[in-house]
Order: sequence, then structure tokens, then C-alpha cells
Amino acid sequence: MKIAILPGDGIGPEIVEQAVKVLNALGESFELETAPVGGAGYEASGHPLPEATLKLALEADAILFGAVGDWKYDTLDRPLRPEQAILGLRKNLKLFANLRPAIMYPELAGASTLKPEVVSGLDILIIRELTGDIYFGQPRGVRECPDGPFKGEREGFDTMRYAESEIRRIAHVAFQAAQKRDKRLTSVDKANVLETFQFWRDIVTEVHKEYPDVALDHMYVDNAAMQLVRAPKKFDVIVTGNMFGDILSDQASMLTGSIGMLPSASLDANNKGLYEPSHGSAPDIAGKGVANPLATIMSAAMMLRYSLNKAEQADRIENAVKKVLAQGLRTPDIYEAGTTKVGTGEMGQAVLQALS
Ligand code: IPM
Ligand code: MG
Repeated sequence: MKIAILPGDGIGPEIVEQAVKVLNALGESFELETAPVGGAGYEASGHPLPEATLKLALEADAILFGAVGDWKYDTLDRPLRPEQAILGLRKNLKLFANLRPAIMYPELAGASTLKPEVVSGLDILIIRELTGDIYFGQPRGVRECPDGPFKGEREGFDTMRYAESEIRRIAHVAFQAAQKRDKRLTSVDKANVLETFQFWRDIVTEVHKEYPDVALDHMYVDNAAMQLVRAPKKFDVIVTGNMFGDILSDQASMLTGSIGMLPSASLDANNKGLYEPSHGSAPDIAGKGVANPLATIMSAAMMLRYSLNKAEQADRIENAVKKVLAQGLRTPDIYEAGTTKVGTGEMGQAVLQALS
């Protein structure tokens, strides 16, 4: 099995290095091949998603992705910015289903900014549609405003749209995920204002008929944002569109106290996937050896489970991570008094040792 390794920018290379060490220690015969992406892709060949990198990603069985982005690329034309690499991979590989778990590890209950009783034991799964919505909808651009009170001025515009089959397939993923958990699904929309999301609600309600064992409710996105901080444990699985999912998944990740702990998977219709930590490239701490590699290591575990059919190896990694947390090892982002502060490499090494 071939795994494409795309470390990217900022802390990407150093955290991916730790996950690669873990993968190599499993005793499997994976073929790993590394390629530049994001700012690193731009430096190497003038484009954030170089042709050779896309080719590798297309032919691999799974992709382990670090993070992309750095302030120094903010002045480039939009098509050349690092973020276009991840958007291009999602689109080209048809990775429409984004799974973002938000799990609170008991050892880290003190790390959340919320009261421990509100978040302890939290275990929710956000399923974000990833290749549609206003992110990719055409037309978009800047033009002369054709009508209304601002007619004749310049205006920026994007298009929010969802096709029926696009909503159906993400709804199926969400209902099936809920069946494997607590069988509760919340569909988040803005049906009170947006046509796109009234349609979303209607289709999700239709698909629900095929999953009578799952309890479905619908929530407006503003209310969902509020409920996520008021009583997050009331959620089990949340399904939503691309833009709402972008926002709510960042919010949910912070409930757990450390975005440095959370993995994510972006899957196509055949469970081929791209796996990446939920956090970004954190250029401010890049190269300092303090970044938390656990989200990337856990992303490698998700990859083993969802794309490579190696659930036992995934368990091994997840148990190793729990063990190092129980040992009291903490990178600075999750450090508290009474625990042992370690760097990126030491944390990776500790996971390796805990594997055996
Ligand atoms: C994410 C990120 C991306 C997104 C950016 C980097 C394009 O915020 O994966 O959530 O908006 O989807
Ligand atoms: Mg985001």
C-alpha cells in the first residue's frame, strides 16, 4: 500500500516526521513517498499543488498531510496561495466527507477554557461536507454590481449552492456514522434564511427515512454555535455544509482544550482519504521543536482505520497516545503544573516506545 506524505509548511514537516516514525515502526510494508505542498510546493515548482504532488496523491491509497500556509505567502495571487493546495486536493480527489472528531481526553480536562463539568467526557463527531457550498460555487469574483441600491459600484460575490445528490451522499455518511455511535444526528443549516439550506433540510429529512434507528434533529447554525458552548455533550454526530462546518469544527475543537490533539479525515466515496491534524501550520512556532505531534499521529491512526483496513494498528497507536498522556508527558500547548513538558521529538519518541 502506498501512502503519500505531504508535510507542507510551518510546523507541518516536524509533526509529520513524528507520525512517519510511528508508521514505520508498525512492521507493515507501507511504501511512503514524500512530496512538497502549499508554500513548499510554491517554492519547489511555482505552484502550491505541483503536478507531481497531485499525481502522487491520486495514485496513493491514502495521504498523510501536515499543514499549509505562512504569512509570507499572503500577498500572492489567490490561485498561488498555500490554501489552494488543500482545496485543490479536496476537489481533485473528490474528498467530499470530512470527519472531525472532538474528543476530550480525561487527562486534559483542565486544558479547556470551559468548566470541566461542561466538557469532561466530550465525544462528538462533526461531519462537514467538503467539496461544495460557497467554497466552490460558481460564479464568483469581483464585478460591477448589476442591480440593487449599489448598482454600478464594484462588488465581490460568491455562490452558495448544493445539488441534491451532493446532500444525499453526505447525509448517508452522517447517518451511517451515527449508527456506529450513539445514533443521534443533528443536521445544522440556516433554513430560516437560505434557500440552499431549506433544500438541505428537506433532503436530509428524506434520507432519514432509510435510517429509522437514528434520531435526527435540525438546528440553525447560530443556535448550534450557542449550544456547542452551552451544552456540547448533548451532541453526538453533527452534519453540516462546507462553510458552517469550517466554523463549527474550529469551535468544537477548542472545547477540548487542545486543537493540537485532534485528527481529521477527508474521504471520497470509496474511503480513500486524506488525513491531517485539525490545526494549522502555526508558523509562529515552526522549527522550534515545541509543536504537538499527537494530532498528526492520531490522523495516521485514522488513516489505518478508514483507508488501509488496519484497525488493530490504529488501536495500537491510539492506545500508545493514551499511555503517554497517562505518563504525564505534555507538549507546551497542553502543559499544566505537575506534568512533564516535552518537545515535538520527545513526544514522538515516547509514542514509539509506548507502541511496543
Ligand atoms: C480547514 C481550513 C481550510 C478550510 C482553509 C485552509 C482553506 O480552515 O481545513 O478548516 O477553510 O477548509
Ligand atoms: Mg477551518
